[in-house]
Amino acid sequence: MHSAGVVETRRLRVGVSRVVAVLAMAVVAVTSIVAAAAPSSAATEGFRDVTGKHQFYREISWLSSSGITTGYADNSFRPANKVSREAFAAYLYRLAGKPPVRLPSRSPFRDVGVSALFYREIVWLAQQGITTGWADGSFRPKEPITRDAMAAFLYRFEGRPSFAAPARSPFKDVTRATKFYKEITWMRASGRSTGWSDGTYRPYASTTREATAAFLFRGYGPRGYTAPAYAPPTTWDPDRDVSRMLSDPESVLVVVNKRRPLDPIRYVPPDLVSVSGVPGGSNHRLRREAAQQLTAMSRAAKSNGLSFSVSSSYRSYSYQAGLFRNYSNRFGVASAERFSARPGHSEHQTGLGVDVSSTGCTISGCFGTSAVGRWVARHAHEYGYIVRYPEGKTHVTGYIYEPWHLRYVGVELASEMRARGVTTLEEFFGLGSAPTYR
Ligand code: DAL
Ligand code: ZN
Repeated sequence: MHSAGVVETRRLRVGVSRVVAVLAMAVVAVTSIVAAAAPSSAATEGFRDVTGKHQFYREISWLSSSGITTGYADNSFRPANKVSREAFAAYLYRLAGKPPVRLPSRSPFRDVGVSALFYREIVWLAQQGITTGWADGSFRPKEPITRDAMAAFLYRFEGRPSFAAPARSPFKDVTRATKFYKEITWMRASGRSTGWSDGTYRPYASTTREATAAFLFRGYGPRGYTAPAYAPPTTWDPDRDVSRMLSDPESVLVVVNKRRPLDPIRYVPPDLVSVSGVPGGSNHRLRREAAQQLTAMSRAAKSNGLSFSVSSSYRSYSYQAGLFRNYSNRFGVASAERFSARPGHSEHQTGLGVDVSSTGCTISGCFGTSAVGRWVARHAHEYGYIVRYPEGKTHVTGYIYEPWHLRYVGVELASEMRARGVTTLEEFFGLGSAPTYR
């Protein structure tokens, strides 16, 4: 948290233009605001840990584009992290346009040295009367800022607007006797905080970065602000941060195994289509791109006088549950675990996994030695597929050699794995083995 704060500051300093600093000289009022960066219409991959579906995607996008707090060097935003009191001092100082500060040679707080990272910001906060610190003369810069303290800071930052606190508390865990009752209810009345859906405000809880983004955006974000459209990459690329894609069920890179369930566990792919032009394909569905590529692979096999059929492809959570139950009843759970995934843990549920068969070899090891099976193993990558459970990798994948189980990962990744001779997704992405469920 702390060292990450250093990263933030460094990045920010680079981004602040002289113009803003000069303009800020003329700023007297605490409430003057740095103009937010113009919203961009270009699509963005965004932070690696904030998808376009995040509750505060727009708020976080504004906060970072305005330079109040940017992301971290690893392109994360860490929305659930707590905001420290010193970091919040810095946010407000930036929000105020970084006005000049007379820096006293003696710190107003006994636990903030004159060479402290945020000395200027904390001094400014105190000079503006936004913070008085604690009765013992400390500021406690590294402590997370609680939600009640944030209410007080924001109320003062706003210039202590006249506000008649309501007779009845809008929050069930805040009463008229609660310290900062006025400030907390002002947060609600001014539209900055809605509280939690259970009717609480949680005044003594630490404030998260995502909640801070929401509070600040509602107070100071431009009304018409449009966040850039969220467009995560869909294919593997050596220059891309693909970490988020490995857990995103919608990505062709999603890695599902005994240690990596689908999230959500009952995930259903959005674009399932039946597989055309492949024997058995009309009874089975795959995601569109995976289906098209399987069709292309089948066509190429046929031009070499070879043929495979589709035995199984997309399987829903409940279908997989029944399948696993049947296998367990027939062979015992321990045996079933070696070739059948529990529901929520099967690649078949992603719509990217498919079992192919040759004549006489249906979901059986003999597919691997059949002519078409050998052709598939050699050429699958050209169509974006890999043999997902290779021979000798049971300790990594958790499954026996399944020459028939193909997984669509996109041509880029399949080709790269082939070129590097790395045969499992776990090894390629350094994810650790998944021999068993945890
Ligand atoms: N046969 C693979 C492991 C599955 O059940 O998904
Ligand atoms: Zn399979």
